[in-house]
Amino acid sequence: MKSLLITGGAGFIGSHVVDLFVNKYPDYQIITLDALTYAGNLENLNNVLSKPNHIFEKEDVTDTNAIHRLFEKYQFDGIIHLAAESHVDRSITDPLSFVRTNVLGTVNLLHAAKELWKNAYEDKRFYHISTDEVYGSLSQEGKFHETTSYDPRSPYSASKASSDHFVRAFHHTFGLPVVVSNCSNNYGARQFPEKLIPLAINNIKHQKPIPIYGRGENIRDWLYVNDHAAAIDLIFHHGVNGETYNIGGNNEWSNISLIRLLCKIMDKKLGRVSGASEQLITFITDRAGHDLRYAIDSSKLQHDLGWKPSLLFEEGLEKTVDWYLANEKWLDDITSGAYQQYYKKQYNLK
Ligand code: NAD
Ligand code: DAU
Repeated sequence: MKSLLITGGAGFIGSHVVDLFVNKYPDYQIITLDALTYAGNLENLNNVLSKPNHIFEKEDVTDTNAIHRLFEKYQFDGIIHLAAESHVDRSITDPLSFVRTNVLGTVNLLHAAKELWKNAYEDKRFYHISTDEVYGSLSQEGKFHETTSYDPRSPYSASKASSDHFVRAFHHTFGLPVVVSNCSNNYGARQFPEKLIPLAINNIKHQKPIPIYGRGENIRDWLYVNDHAAAIDLIFHHGVNGETYNIGGNNEWSNISLIRLLCKIMDKKLGRVSGASEQLITFITDRAGHDLRYAIDSSKLQHDLGWKPSLLFEEGLEKTVDWYLANEKWLDDITSGAYQQYYKKQYNLK
């Protein structure tokens, strides 16, 4: 493998994948492609921007000419496709941008790979990064398996489900060498503070209300982002073409329990009296169509490729808090300007 395209590499998960690959595989030429939307941030790539085996290209995955030009220029052998609109709440207010990037962008890349690899697929791989949300919502029982039927229920998950179907369709129809993984909720450094954990960290820091949808009873399965990146490395190199791998932390938390734990950690780190941050918890109108519970069975990945999560949640959450507290400028820059308008419209809180 010589030339590797990573899309969405200036975002949260993508930047950890780029970090891992650039450092672990000095013989690869890694091309990070990112449109630098509100969620993309070149500072996320600070560790790799000056590395000789890394190149950044600011392009949009929906731009057919740009994708073809880059394919010709770099002769990609592999693609790890993470670029997406990723936030469920934004998909409720602006579904079309999710269709554009997540569906059209993915098909644009698939089509380019098919045309430019010209059926010579040896040592080529198209790896599509997806979400457990495509499987729908669970009650208190059961887990998502690779064979679970798709039942997306938000515009975000519907767009990701559609892109997953296109990826598999290109495999079945054209023989494109694809692999897909569906992962649970990630947390860690550099996550955009529209998502629950960094949003709560930022609000606690500024002693602002922590908005919890409904009664906080919804359950998510949390995975440390570096563990997701490690799984992506294994699947990219050792996964079987045409297969799907579920990735999850086996780490279910209701939102309210998670936020209470986070409040404890923040009280300790900020030297506040025990219980101070919990006072900020504010229950607000539920998210429309809010999925109750996600839980992933990742035994296929564990058994076939030997992956397992490395960190306990308490440990990972503490590391995450440490990162946000140490990177005040990153957080302040990202939460000024357009973020303030988004926040006001989304939450209508003081
Ligand atoms: P993110 O929003 O932090 O980053 C997305 C990146 O894609 C940003 O850098 C953005 O600039 C870029 N991008 C958006 N539209 C683009 C376009 N049209 N062209 C080029 N670049 C574009 O997202 P994330 O949380 O890092 O998620 C990355 C991928 O992983 C997504 O495909 C998401 O569906 C998937 N995923 C995320 C999670 C999670 O918990 N965050 C879990 C499972 C799967
Ligand atoms: O499951 C994987 C998915 O996890 C990824 O595919 C998505 O890209 C990622 O955004 C994430 O989706 P969620 O909707 O689960 O994540 P979010 O952080 O937005 O919300 C987590 C839970 O917290 C969810 O039940 C909604 C709730 N929540 C969220 C926010 C932003 C709140 O109660 N209040 C909030 O302000």
